[in-house]
Amino acid sequence: MLPCALNGAARCCMERSASGRAFSTVRRFVLGIETSCDETGAAVLDDTGAILGESLHSQKQTHLDAGGIIPPVAQQLHRENISRVVQEALDRSGIEPSELTAVATTVKPGLALSLGIGLDFSRKFVRLHEKPFIPIHHMEAHALTVRMLHPVDFPFLVLLVSGGHSLLALAKGIDEFLLLGQTLDAAAGDTLDKIARRLSLRNHPECSSLSGGQAIELLAKEGDRLAFHFKSPMGQLYDCNFSFAGLRNQVTLAISKKEREEGVEKGQLLSCVKDIAAALQHTVASHIAKRTHRAILFCKSKGLLPQHNPTLVVSGGVASNEYIRQTLKIVTDATGLHLLCPPSKFCTDNGVMIAWNGIERLKQGKGIMSHSEEVNYEPKAPLGLDITSEVKDAAIKIPPLKLRINS
Ligand code: KG4
Ligand code: ZN
Repeated sequence: MLPCALNGAARCCMERSASGRAFSTVRRFVLGIETSCDETGAAVLDDTGAILGESLHSQKQTHLDAGGIIPPVAQQLHRENISRVVQEALDRSGIEPSELTAVATTVKPGLALSLGIGLDFSRKFVRLHEKPFIPIHHMEAHALTVRMLHPVDFPFLVLLVSGGHSLLALAKGIDEFLLLGQTLDAAAGDTLDKIARRLSLRNHPECSSLSGGQAIELLAKEGDRLAFHFKSPMGQLYDCNFSFAGLRNQVTLAISKKEREEGVEKGQLLSCVKDIAAALQHTVASHIAKRTHRAILFCKSKGLLPQHNPTLVVSGGVASNEYIRQTLKIVTDATGLHLLCPPSKFCTDNGVMIAWNGIERLKQGKGIMSHSEEVNYEPKAPLGLDITSEVKDAAIKIPPLKLRINS
């Protein structure tokens, strides 16, 4: 592609068609900004989904050292890093602010103090450069990331499992979702993070810089999942909701018992830490797989999925977990669905997914605001139309499936 002229918010390029004839196209560029939790991310994408420049500052180590995310600390770190991160993404892309078509920023859901920093920065930026603003729903962005990488048509089923959310939804369009199930208490990632902390995995030589979920996955590889038995949550409830609080309780009790038996002090590692990780990971995977299996059967029974190439998309930080992916593959193989998971770096929070969501909205002319319009952040924001009670009323029983993974 040969840049030939600058055209305000877009760049005009000469391209060649399949027949070799030259024609001009107008490229559009979106700057995406993410600050909803503990990653300060920015990226510039063009409307084909090409990543022109990106930058990410992770607060993970600070929060690991502090024993959890402290919102004012997260806010301060976003404040200290946002200008640099956005500038780096712009510099790497070679795109000037004047060439941007729009700026897309996460405004919901997330930590209020963190969302506020991204939104304030973005509103000043769009006013200064007189650019349209596209407010982004963080979970919508996780759900759509896959379309940047694969040509996935709507409708598709999406499972989003992250530090803050666990949900199943039918994606009918870029801004049209049917919510089939969600967590009633904690999210999968948050549960893994808290149990990893309870196990003092930060003091494990191989886990000191890993998130809780990553540490559990690593240790589980060498653990015996049958050494502990944790009951899979909500076995008697035939809906697609999730619950992880009871599982956390079961695991915490087992840890306390082992600590007493081994005479282990606070901060020390149990000898059976790998077995606990393996049993926990299996129970989380099996809970997620069963709810997803039911969601697939529900969608099929209502004719909500296409006949041709019905697809399950899995994203969010916990979707990086290979064991969980393999468990879900067993479910999709048994039900005839195609399983798509973006690579790990696009499953966890980043600016790219926000910029892509901006591109999707720009292409369809949806949710684009002028630089002077008032926008507020929303710490809590549901995704789509909630039909969880309809799913519950359908009370679909899932056939038994052997979830046996060779790790
Ligand atoms: O999507 P994400 O980056 O942030 C939120 O929106 O919450 O997800 C972060 C979560 C953390 O709870 C982390 O422990 C979990 O994703 N996670 C994993 C893995 N990598 C990150 N959980 C299980 N296995 C992994 N490999
Ligand atoms: Zn996320």
